[in-house]
Amino acid sequence: MHVLVTGATGQVGYELLRLAPEDFTVAGFGSAQLDITDAAAVEESVARETPALIINAAAYTAVDKAEAEPELAYAANRDGVANLAAVAARRGIPLLHISTDYVFAGDAKTPYREDETPAPTGVYGASKLAGEQVLAETCASHLIMRTSWVFGAHGNNFVKTMLRLGQEREKLSVVADQHGCPTSAASIARALWALVEQYRDQGTLQWGLYHYAGLPPCTWHDFAKNIFDIAHELGLISQKPMLVAIGTEDFPTPAKRPAWSVLDSCRLKRVHGIGPSDWPMDLRDVLTELRSLRDS
Ligand SMILES: NC(=O)c1ccc[n+]([C@@H]2O[C@H](COP(=O)([O-])OP(=O)(O)OC[C@H]3O[C@@H](n4cnc5c(N)ncnc54)[C@H](OP(=O)(O)O)[C@@H]3O)[C@@H](O)[C@H]2O)c1
Repeated sequence: MHVLVTGATGQVGYELLRLAPEDFTVAGFGSAQLDITDAAAVEESVARETPALIINAAAYTAVDKAEAEPELAYAANRDGVANLAAVAARRGIPLLHISTDYVFAGDAKTPYREDETPAPTGVYGASKLAGEQVLAETCASHLIMRTSWVFGAHGNNFVKTMLRLGQEREKLSVVADQHGCPTSAASIARALWALVEQYRDQGTLQWGLYHYAGLPPCTWHDFAKNIFDIAHELGLISQKPMLVAIGTEDFPTPAKRPAWSVLDSCRLKRVHGIGPSDWPMDLRDVLTELRSLRDS
């Protein structure tokens, strides 16, 4: 089975290529090879590759910058998805797509289920929600996987930012009143490949909207503490910085961040047998990989 992966140079895209099961062939494209905002290029790539399935890991992900350049966020996150969905629908190719916890307002007290009403507070979340909607309207054979707080050894993320800042400063202030679910890019890729394998074996899937995130929920401060504890234990860092817990109001950002970003991943487990990941275990793997990269 041949699979086309967009956004192949991103965190999730990289892991999708790395973790592809051996019996699949994969055409992975970064934005330089395939810009999903270019409808003709999307059409041409799909016509050339004739994939059995498309995974869209491409997105405009700069949450704060999106507030100043909404047209770029919407171009990739809504119009790019529309281009892929149109080609996929016309050719009868299923499309797996990744979305975000930022579609929610973040004012809930219990984990967000798929049937809860989105109400994004920023441009990035709104543009991702628009992409979900256009996909659902255009292509029946689609699966949307909303995930959150993505980290990995490749690409930019909170883990790598913390490790860098921890080298530069003795004391780090980290937000302790935003709750969410760190999710490794590798675990997202594994879950997506498990879905692709089910599609191959069954000839169909129960399409629709699913949440997939790591457990247990934590705050950014908890996440940072785990990063430094494990990094220190693995010898990736020689000293841990002092962590100071601060509130959202002490760390203003252009885009408002949800206070509660916890996703309920039960539906994916119930329908497809794919359970949420264990982020502290995945974090250990990522930090071990970063240590190997440093030592190589
Ligand atoms: N990062 C998170 O914390 C997070 C949280 C929740 C959900 N998500 C979602 O998870 C998915 C994967 O995110 P990620 O963290 O892997 O993102 P990422 O590391 O920022 O990678 C984004 C990828 O999209 C590509 N891209 C951007 N604009 C494009 C365009 N117009 N055409 C084609 N490719 C384009 C980038 O290509 P270049 O490198 O060539 O620019 C890159 O390969 C996205 O849908 C994102 O919204 C991410």
